[in-house]
Amino acid sequence: MKKQAKQKSFDIAVVLQPLRPLAMVVFVFLFSTTFFLTISATPAFSGEYHATSEETTTGTETLACSQCHTMHGSQGGQSLLYEGSTLQPMLIRASSVTNLCLYCHGSTSPGAVGWDGRTPPQVENNQQSYTPSAGDFKHSNYTNEANRHSIGMDVSSLSPPGYSGIWSDVTARFGTEFNCEFCHDQHGNTNYRNLRFNPGVPADDNASSPNRVLVTYAYGTGSDPNDNTKDVNYWGAGANTSSPNKFTRSSVRFRRAPLDSDSPARGISAWCGTCHVDFYGASGASNMGGVSSGGVVGAGDNNSSTNSPWLRHPVADVDMGIASTNLHVDVANWNSVSSKARHINPDGIPGNSDDQPFCFTCHYAHGGGNPNSGGSPQLDHTNLAFVDGSGKVNIEAGYSTATGMIRNLCQQCHNQ
Ligand code: HEC
Ligand code: HEC
Ligand code: HEC
Ligand code: HEC
Ligand code: HEC
Ligand code: HEC
Repeated sequence: MKKQAKQKSFDIAVVLQPLRPLAMVVFVFLFSTTFFLTISATPAFSGEYHATSEETTTGTETLACSQCHTMHGSQGGQSLLYEGSTLQPMLIRASSVTNLCLYCHGSTSPGAVGWDGRTPPQVENNQQSYTPSAGDFKHSNYTNEANRHSIGMDVSSLSPPGYSGIWSDVTARFGTEFNCEFCHDQHGNTNYRNLRFNPGVPADDNASSPNRVLVTYAYGTGSDPNDNTKDVNYWGAGANTSSPNKFTRSSVRFRRAPLDSDSPARGISAWCGTCHVDFYGASGASNMGGVSSGGVVGAGDNNSSTNSPWLRHPVADVDMGIASTNLHVDVANWNSVSSKARHINPDGIPGNSDDQPFCFTCHYAHGGGNPNSGGSPQLDHTNLAFVDGSGKVNIEAGYSTATGMIRNLCQQCHNQ
């Protein structure tokens, strides 16, 4: 059932492919009219490609409204819908939000889609020859739905594991079919990858709510901006360039140390925690365990109080130095592994004591192939980053299923 729902939306996207050339002609026409209005805009290279100039940090404009919306449904007598034949609520140009996003972000590159020649990164089944930071929804055509965020599925009665809140507020806002909009702001915002300010509580999903989550970023066109005041740093050219480009896993680093006093909350773990509420917390929180340190990096499990033992794996504000003092991790081993698990790295040097585990240490944002149990995906675990004998993760080219296991990941830090 799960599988079917997802298959359906992606199949529609595949059926769409032949229509693309026609739609591109329409694009070109639209662009020739919008070009004059935007000719003075310098190319925006930041992560706000979907935003209007007022909402970006760079003040530049990128996608045009007309690439996603149609006012009347036709121009020159030709349909402006990318697929389907009936007009849609909110005037969008496809039969669902997912299909609209996949028109550009599906498995077949539509090529450059703007006057500045940007190529959209593929998120369905990446065939652009790089390991995408977010993973993807159908890696190497290996459909392993049980492992991923189930785009296309009816989630009206399936709230996220660990959620506490009013899920019907979320589905009333974004629809009952789990789609890209649940996590990304289609109109852009100032967070990394346009991540919503609070995907779990629509009323708090704005730039001024005290309950927003900030995922700030620094971007460099050529090299690592090396800025640990920002949650994320990434660098490189666009998706159409060879790897590593700015969407490649190795060109994205997580830099700012989250602290137990952060208000508003910051970083990826707090962001995932807006939906998976119970799985996130700073040290000392009743759902997590551990010991807080009153505003700085937590003291972890230091055997000092009744709160001390962890109830859930730490995902914020605990570093390897403290954990090593507590004798729960092995920093020397962590330093010696050649390919390290993803972590938050404030000083920019991987493998030392200020490194911190977080959600992406173990999970992908979109999904992972995880074909670990010899073609029986239902036996695999949830969206996890397995590591093979040579340190490759399960969505990388050359990953060996023979040596790939989750324990290889745990052992990098714990060496039990
Ligand atoms: C008309 C084509 C088009 C459509 C439709 C489209 N996108 Fe994009 N999107 C792009 C392009 C091009 C880029 C890459 C820009 C760049 O290279 O910086 C992009 C980039 C992104 C990014 C990464 C931004 C960053 O940090 O660099 C996200 C997230 C994204 N799109 C989400 C979506 C979602 C969600 C939808 C559906 C609501 C959608 N896109 C629909 C063209 C499109
Ligand atoms: C990447 C695609 C994309 C672009 C570009 C885009 N929109 Fe949208 N817009 C959407 C989607 C998707 C929705 C929501 C549809 C839904 O939830 O059913 C939407 C909703 C809206 C709404 C309804 C209210 C809301 O905010 O939800 C308005 C108004 C709107 N867009 C105006 C614009 C304008 C004006 C522009 C250009 C400045 C623009 N859009 C650019 C995809 C886009
Ligand atoms: C908009 C709310 C929302 C956000 C934000 C969100 N998730 Fe989820 N997540 C869900 C829902 C709904 C499910 C259950 C349906 C499914 O499997 O897709 C889920 C399922 C999962 C699963 C289990 C997958 C499986 O099928 O076994 C994992 C792991 C997960 N999420 C991790 C994350 C991580 C890591 C983040 C942050 C990058 C995150 N989630 C952010 C809504 C969300
Ligand atoms: C559960 C939340 C969630 C959903 C649903 C989701 N995304 Fe993402 N997406 C993220 C996060 C978090 C990142 C940043 C991941 C990273 O950097 O490792 C991301 C990254 C991206 C990127 C940048 C490329 C990359 O590999 O990092 C694009 C483009 C994108 N998403 C588009 C989409 C589209 C299109 C959809 C719908 C088909 C979608 N996303 C659904 C959370 C989500
Ligand atoms: C990037 C490093 C890293 C990785 C990878 C990692 N952990 Fe941890 N883990 C930590 C840190 C740091 C602590 C906090 C220890 C402390 O409080 O002193 C911790 C705590 C724990 C604890 C609680 C110990 C206690 O004191 O109660 C367990 C159990 C655990 N991890 C198991 C795992 C497992 C199983 C995996 C693989 C699925 C894993 N860890 C992966 C860094 C990591
Ligand atoms: C140390 C590794 C590790 C870290 C860090 C981690 N997870 Fe997990 N996660 C797992 C494993 C392993 C499972 C399988 C179930 C289990 O062992 O509890 C899992 C399962 C899940 C599930 C599925 C639960 C269900 O009921 O199906 C969700 C959702 C999830 N994780 C979200 C998150 C979020 C959100 C974060 C960050 C706040 C996070 N995880 C951090 C390893 C991790």
